[in-house]
Amino acid sequence: MEKSLKTPLNSIPQDLVCAADYARYAKQHLSHAVYEYVVGGGADEITLRRNRQKLDEYFILPSVLKDCTKGGTHTTVLGQPFRHPLMLAPVAFQQLAHPQAELATAEAANHLETGMIVSTLATRSLEDIAASTSQTKWFQLYFQQDKEFTLSLVRRAEQAGYSALVVTVDAPLHGIRNRAQRAGFVLPEGVEAVNLRDRPPLPRQSFDPSQSVVFQGMMSEAPVWEDIRWLQKQTTLPIILKGILSPIDAVQARELGLAGVVVSNHGGRTLDCVPSSIEMLPVIREAVGTDFVVLYDGAVERGTDTFKALALGADLVCLGRPQFYALAVAGALGVAHLLRILREELEVTMSLAGTPTIDSITSHSLQY
Ligand code: FNR
Ligand code: LAC
Repeated sequence: MEKSLKTPLNSIPQDLVCAADYARYAKQHLSHAVYEYVVGGGADEITLRRNRQKLDEYFILPSVLKDCTKGGTHTTVLGQPFRHPLMLAPVAFQQLAHPQAELATAEAANHLETGMIVSTLATRSLEDIAASTSQTKWFQLYFQQDKEFTLSLVRRAEQAGYSALVVTVDAPLHGIRNRAQRAGFVLPEGVEAVNLRDRPPLPRQSFDPSQSVVFQGMMSEAPVWEDIRWLQKQTTLPIILKGILSPIDAVQARELGLAGVVVSNHGGRTLDCVPSSIEMLPVIREAVGTDFVVLYDGAVERGTDTFKALALGADLVCLGRPQFYALAVAGALGVAHLLRILREELEVTMSLAGTPTIDSITSHSLQY
């Protein structure tokens, strides 16, 4: 029998003091199937585990007796100001966590001066989400099989005030999600990717026995580099590719004139057995040079994690699962509390490491 779910809290319990506490609490606020869908990764979760393990292998080397009184976490990326270098990664279907869904997350982002990347698969309209925060917001684009429809999403994002497109390229099809399968996860009735409502129906495909449902089927709609070039011609918004692990791909993105990349393995949720994103981050930074935007995501749940990613070359660091857990536990209040914790943890880390500004955080602050 399914356990009874706790409704979202109106105040924060005193034993809820870090991001991992939200993961613990979230278990009581989510059905087993939804929890397993969110917490899980692809196949044997080797990459999911490695994201955490590799972050833990880096150590921070403090430099003492530094004057930190002029310190701060402000930074500028793509000419856009950020109060601190944390950003909310695109996380789909937030109504699974809370009835106010992405609107609550946006409200928290607004309150805590945090940038937000809104998923194509949001459960609220991208316009309503944009209207809920005056902070920097970027739109995460999943290419749709119909080019005109893809373009209509871009136009809506432009009009709603999104200031970059984050094109996710590591998930043209779902990874092997055995954990979610075992738990019987399906989208419940009433939870829907509302921004895709007007999507033209997919043409019926039929295969002869020599063809593959994967290659000739699902992958026939997947974007390729040519489609990215097409997108560049359609919009003046900066385009960032999300889900880059190979330095060769990162260099290609740069050579195409794109605005940046997100070094990410989708939280270990797509192809299993790829490297952790933290081990590829310095390799990619080295390959693209200093004046190209590189974001990081994967297993960030402490200020020290954010610090390590900044030290290894990230301009901004994105949070995935923790925002979903905090939303499930206490809605906008939970997400705001989580962001405050992570911002303060970063400030404490920077002060104790003797690197009081974002620019002063370099690989010299790490030991490994
Ligand atoms: C995601 N992620 C994701 N990424 C994306 O580009 N578009 C999306 O719609 C989603 N949706 C989504 C749903 C859920 C439930 C999860 C957990 C993740 C991936 C996300 O943006 C990010 O890359 C990872 O979550 C980062 O890893 P951590 O922070 O969860 O370890
Ligand atoms: C996921 C898809 C929605 O990671 O990106 O579940």
